[in-house]
Amino acid sequence: MPEILVLNGPNLNLLGTREPGIYGSTTLADIEQRLKERAGDRAAVVLRQSNNEGDLVSWLHEAGAAGAKVILNAAAYTHTSIALRDAISGAKAHVIEVHLSNVHAREEFRHHSMIAPVVKGVICGFGPLSYELALEALLSAD
Ligand code: DQA
Repeated sequence: MPEILVLNGPNLNLLGTREPGIYGSTTLADIEQRLKERAGDRAAVVLRQSNNEGDLVSWLHEAGAAGAKVILNAAAYTHTSIALRDAISGAKAHVIEVHLSNVHAREEFRHHSMIAPVVKGVICGFGPLSYELALEALLSAD
């Protein structure tokens, strides 16, 4: 069964209580459960979260080496991290970038993604469904 890694960056451990007007009340554990149910026996879903940039870099290296596909919500690092961008391209990781919120409808500093040029695609603005749409995209792509 193919493995799909769902990598989450800083502050996403606070989902459920963090700015619910923007991010809703769904927790990361709820998102993991929904993804596992949706994947069924089509893929093994493994979800990880870290507030540290280096952990995300190392997990992207692992994914690239293992040929595992990745759903990545890099959170604030999306907008700042050359290290994550280099990790994705250096490890040849197959990544879909996701965001719960529509980053383009928010502050200007969220409009730019450092990683968008090196990922397969970007899905944002659909809340937890952003992750599920990314899962479907990964499962239907070669
Ligand atoms: C986010 C959007 C980012 O701008 C923000 O820093 C986050 C969450 C989202 O899922 O909407 O932490 O990635």
